[in-house]
Amino acid sequence: MKHAMLWSLVATLCLVALHAEPQDSTASMPRYAGQNLMRPENYREWIFLSSGLGMNYNPSAGGQELFTNVFVPEWSYRQFLASGKWPDKSIFVVEERGSQSNGSINKTGHFQTELVGMGVEVKDEGRFPEKWAYFKFGADTKTAGANPKAACWQCHNDHAAVEHTFVQFYPTLKEVAKKFGTYRAAAENVSPFK
Ligand code: HEC
Repeated sequence: MKHAMLWSLVATLCLVALHAEPQDSTASMPRYAGQNLMRPENYREWIFLSSGLGMNYNPSAGGQELFTNVFVPEWSYRQFLASGKWPDKSIFVVEERGSQSNGSINKTGHFQTELVGMGVEVKDEGRFPEKWAYFKFGADTKTAGANPKAACWQCHNDHAAVEHTFVQFYPTLKEVAKKFGTYRAAAENVSPFK
């Protein structure tokens, strides 16, 4: 009897400890395996910034129109809301999903389907001389090496409205950045992307 009570106490304490652990701790910061970035596994629990359909800025695009869904961890998002800037160790995911029109009861428009791949961007000032680094993951890739500057960094550097991020396409953050004066309005007038 005494033992049973003790065990249930221990079990309860364990549960409390598990739940008390911050959901958004180091797991939502970049983690590396040697030179490679580890795939962020829990990004679907992060803050959703926006989605695009068939946005075409990638030379390899073409064929099927993909949806893009952009996510950022909550700790980083909150600091952005308070300052209009991204804190060091911020990590971003742009998920690419297939699109489909006919399915179930749907007749027009598009809904999202399978994961095609994802792009990951990190602001890690201590690790990368260029401060921002870019990684590409396939549907099953576990780790990825940083892309050469020309593949990702350059376009983000030249055309993104807030630091290296495309806040011009994230309607709720756009207002925040404008309020703090961190929004580069000139980024809206570039066409087409190069
Ligand atoms: C020609 C310009 C261009 C290039 C090259 C490019 N991107 Fe982007 N990226 C964009 C645009 C535009 C968005 C806006 C969101 C969208 O497409 O839905 C974006 C959004 C992102 C985001 C979401 C966060 C943010 O910065 O707004 C990530 C992560 C990302 N890209 C990763 C990559 C990776 C990884 C590569 C290289 C493999 C890459 N990008 C190459 C233009 C570019």
